[in-house]
Amino acid sequence: MKIYKTNVKNINSRYSILIGFGAINQLKKNIRSVCPNTKKIALIFDKKIPNRMLNKVKRQIRDYKIFVYKYSVNENLKSFEKVNSLNESLLAKNFNRNDLLIAVGGGVIGDFAGFAASILKRGVNFINLPSTLLAQVDSSIGGKTGVNSKKGKNLIGTFYQPKLVISELEFLKSLPRREIICGFAEILKHSFISDKKFFKWIEKNTKKIINNKDYKIINSAIFKSCKIKISFVQKDEKEKGDRAILNFGHTFAHGIEAASNFSKKINHGEAVLIGMYLASKLSKDKNICSKKTLGKIINFYKENNLPNDLKQFSLKNKLDKIIELMKNDKKNVDSKISLILLKRIGKTTKPGRIKMTPKQIKLSLKKFT
Ligand SMILES: NC(=O)c1ccc[n+]([C@@H]2O[C@H](COP(=O)([O-])OP(=O)(O)OC[C@H]3O[C@@H](n4cnc5c(N)ncnc54)[C@H](O)[C@@H]3O)[C@@H](O)[C@H]2O)c1
Repeated sequence: MKIYKTNVKNINSRYSILIGFGAINQLKKNIRSVCPNTKKIALIFDKKIPNRMLNKVKRQIRDYKIFVYKYSVNENLKSFEKVNSLNESLLAKNFNRNDLLIAVGGGVIGDFAGFAASILKRGVNFINLPSTLLAQVDSSIGGKTGVNSKKGKNLIGTFYQPKLVISELEFLKSLPRREIICGFAEILKHSFISDKKFFKWIEKNTKKIINNKDYKIINSAIFKSCKIKISFVQKDEKEKGDRAILNFGHTFAHGIEAASNFSKKINHGEAVLIGMYLASKLSKDKNICSKKTLGKIINFYKENNLPNDLKQFSLKNKLDKIIELMKNDKKNVDSKISLILLKRIGKTTKPGRIKMTPKQIKLSLKKFT
């Protein structure tokens, strides 16, 4: 199977993303070229990933002094205290700026390890080996790192670019279907916000991705999705403008996750799928998209049995709370809720153009329920 390679260029950095079965075998060679002075490597590893994958990674870095940190993963790992404890341990081992942290895990491990790397001695080398579909198509690209605060998700963090990303498809073998759907939500989002042709391809291939784990198709979907995300983050590294389009569906999703206290009852991808569905309905109600576009989206969700209803997660009576919680989104700069809406498949409104009060959103969505 093909190993794809693509590059991300920012003002002060440039790194490659490798995608495919066996891409991990290129880790050794790449570390030598992007981190030539590294002596020590800390592997920040998700405990749920099978040990055979840990051994594969270790074989690639056996010429270095290796320290393995294994974590049970949930959102609580993304805390300042846990980052501090990791960094104190690395300082005790004399890690310096030439040394390297490698994240092996999903978005939680990537955000956690990337943040630790960004503040340790004001920045040590960082490589990301994303192990969930969501991390491969989304969180490993673009350099956002961070932890949660008592006041909300991802409120403390940095922009810090990795030296390399390797999306090894073999990681996905042990990934549960629910997590595959989570990553699929972001792939679908990328098509909605910028590529109608890609949406048509997704229409044909969704079942192969989420039901059959067809790796050839997944490989192409990850590559295409990465290219779209890169096109946004390269133009706007620090999210001052169009990068915010990537938040399509996410303002609702954050409200949904917060209203369910970030419980396992609903995961991020499921919340994003419902969020995009609600944002599309709102788009139609405000005459930003046509009835035909909304109909296409409704049919697509129905045909693929994708989550689209708060009722499925016993959140139906929480719509008012969800909308109130959307006010806390860090992209809002006043009391109104800033939203990205859909003009048609492949095109959204510009960031900052649509602002609504919670009451306006409620009235609009209630027409559809
Ligand atoms: N930095 C960014 O730009 C960005 C973008 C999107 C999301 N995020 C963050 O990413 C996080 C969500 O990421 P995620 O969906 O990858 O969640 P995650 O890291 O929690 O992983 C999901 C689940 O899969 C398990 N897992 C991971 N890899 C596995 C494997 N190969 N086999 C079996 N199980 C495996 C994990 O232990 C966990 O239970 C959130 O914290 C979110 O805020 C960050």
